[in-house]
Amino acid sequence: MIATVRPARRLDGAIRVPGDKSISHRALILGSIASGRSHLRGLSPGADVQSTSRCVEELGAQFNGSVLDGCGMNGLRRAGGPLDCGNSGTTMRLLAGLLAAQDFESELVGDESLSRRPMDRVVSPLSEMGARASWPPLRVGGQTPLHGFSHTMAKPSAQVKSAILIAALFADGATSVVEPVRTRDHTELMLRAMGAAVEVEGVRVQLTPASRLEPLDLDIPGDLSAAAFWLVAAGLMPGSRVRLEGVGVNPTRTAFIDLLLGCGFQIKFSNSRFAGGEPVADLDVTSAVALRALQVSGDQAAEMIDELPVLAVVATQIAGRTVISGAAELRVKESNRIEAMEEGLTAMGADITAVEDGWVINGPRYLEGAKVSAHGDHRVAMALAVAGLIADGRTEIDGAECVEISYPDFFDHLEYLC
Ligand code: S3P
Repeated sequence: MIATVRPARRLDGAIRVPGDKSISHRALILGSIASGRSHLRGLSPGADVQSTSRCVEELGAQFNGSVLDGCGMNGLRRAGGPLDCGNSGTTMRLLAGLLAAQDFESELVGDESLSRRPMDRVVSPLSEMGARASWPPLRVGGQTPLHGFSHTMAKPSAQVKSAILIAALFADGATSVVEPVRTRDHTELMLRAMGAAVEVEGVRVQLTPASRLEPLDLDIPGDLSAAAFWLVAAGLMPGSRVRLEGVGVNPTRTAFIDLLLGCGFQIKFSNSRFAGGEPVADLDVTSAVALRALQVSGDQAAEMIDELPVLAVVATQIAGRTVISGAAELRVKESNRIEAMEEGLTAMGADITAVEDGWVINGPRYLEGAKVSAHGDHRVAMALAVAGLIADGRTEIDGAECVEISYPDFFDHLEYLC
């Protein structure tokens, strides 16, 4: 599908972004081994989370919209064939942790993009725990029990941390994981809510194996990584006023908001509350007053990795040179996001150069509508749509149907807000 985005004068209105993708995956995976019925309201409607729900159903959990009947910690059964994780790295890596600890072998497969993504990062620590694990293709499980261990992660990754913690639930001793920088902690919060013993001290997480997990009763917050597109679009368009209701503002996810605030964006939090153990707020965003310079480097990039494609759009509007570095990980996401955003924004008239671990962007530049490609990557499609809103003329995004992965209503929301 080609999506056409026309320049808009301003954005106005209130929306609810889809349920948080990271929390939705975890709720389905951990709920599948809970003892009893979980109630999961507001799950992400995206294709990635549907991949996870199909997989846990194949493993024996019963799922019906928002009700999930878990099998208990010893109740999963071998799937009838390879488990299809679709486009979803989180599904594949977190399930690898769960299935590595089972006494049957599982094979995890995915689409063309997922088949190219690195899985040694989960295979290697799971093997260290005594699991049978190999890749490619990704096969795990069949050798138990796993052993608790102390692991220091070389690279920040919430997916890898989570895979280890989920496997560690089934181990014969405690496990500790030390991260180079604190990544999203939804797994830790959810496990604790389910009764598991998880202790966090700075960048160190320690987990004691569990024999039982209580079911969940969750209202899943809106996805801040989906809200990010509207924070940027409204901020860059004079006269805009957008309210984003019920967005998750877990401090391990808000580095991007702090960065935007620091460079002149106007974002107000209200109605702050907790939902399902996670902090949530309504966000009101109005146009930025004057954009100040921003730089991203080192560990900072890991704290806002999913927001960096749309941050590149912001940088095209800032006077001077913006350097975004420390983000080599973007090369192994659903697409090579460094190359994909360089290509799309260059076609639109930006001065952007891809480097090994990010971009150098000189601004401000007027953007012009162009024909661009989403490269099968939902976040690239949405970031280029935001660029299209502030450009002159028409932008045509080829392959825009991939927004289905995390935000099926994205273009409807865009139309409503314009
Ligand atoms: C995620 C962690 C991040 C992020 C991804 C979701 C998660 O990946 O980019 O979209 O839910 O744990 P990494 O763990 O590979 O950094």
